[in-house]
Amino acid sequence: MKLAPSILAADLADLAAALSVCEQGGAELVHVDVMDGHFVPNLSFGVPMVAALKRHTELPLDVHLMVSNPDRLLEDYLAAGADRISVHWEVAEHLHRTLAIIREGGGEAGVVVNPGTPVELLEDVLEALDFVLVMSVNPGFAGQAFIPRALDKARRLRAMIERQGLAVEIDMDGGLGPDTVPRAVEAGVEVCVVGSAIFGREDPLAAMAEIHANRRKEDR
Ligand code: DX5
Ligand code: ZN
Repeated sequence: MKLAPSILAADLADLAAALSVCEQGGAELVHVDVMDGHFVPNLSFGVPMVAALKRHTELPLDVHLMVSNPDRLLEDYLAAGADRISVHWEVAEHLHRTLAIIREGGGEAGVVVNPGTPVELLEDVLEALDFVLVMSVNPGFAGQAFIPRALDKARRLRAMIERQGLAVEIDMDGGLGPDTVPRAVEAGVEVCVVGSAIFGREDPLAAMAEIHANRRKEDR
């Protein structure tokens, strides 16, 4: 399991410190939530922010686009240093083309599915993507309760990927923490995005250590 801390839940006035926490705590990715105030009610990070983050860390930036018109932003985010970009199935009208643009721009391409979107809708596009991000909350805010149904979706997705003989990675985002990460891993999730359960804690590094330790218990 790889850990991708979501810096949306960190002290937004001190993101350099949040990046150090990610590095010291053994994160494999830094998850960056981009919100447009349209597809989701909240507003968050823009292109200059991603460029600034890139200057402060060697960790790959995992950009989760919660925006209504992802296509017109892809080049800018790639140029700013996004290593991976995921777009929501619910707003990507020409999904296959969108994924090709991300890959041609040198990024890993992902699709995100909301809690109400069945993973079966990805059947014909699986071979054109690198990872699927299964939302385990409705997107827009950190700190929401985990929706357990997401575990079943991850299992169905794992079966679909295996049937097609592909190496697509499964990520999960929302409401994950020390208790839910082991359940996600058991369901086939390979990357866990964690916000509040790291940055909402007094000692984020201890929180990351606890998540890693719980996950290892599950592995045994
Ligand atoms: C929600 C975001 C998540 C969020 C996760 O819209 O996509 O990445 O920051 O935060 P927690 O772990 O607090 O649910
Ligand atoms: Zn996210």
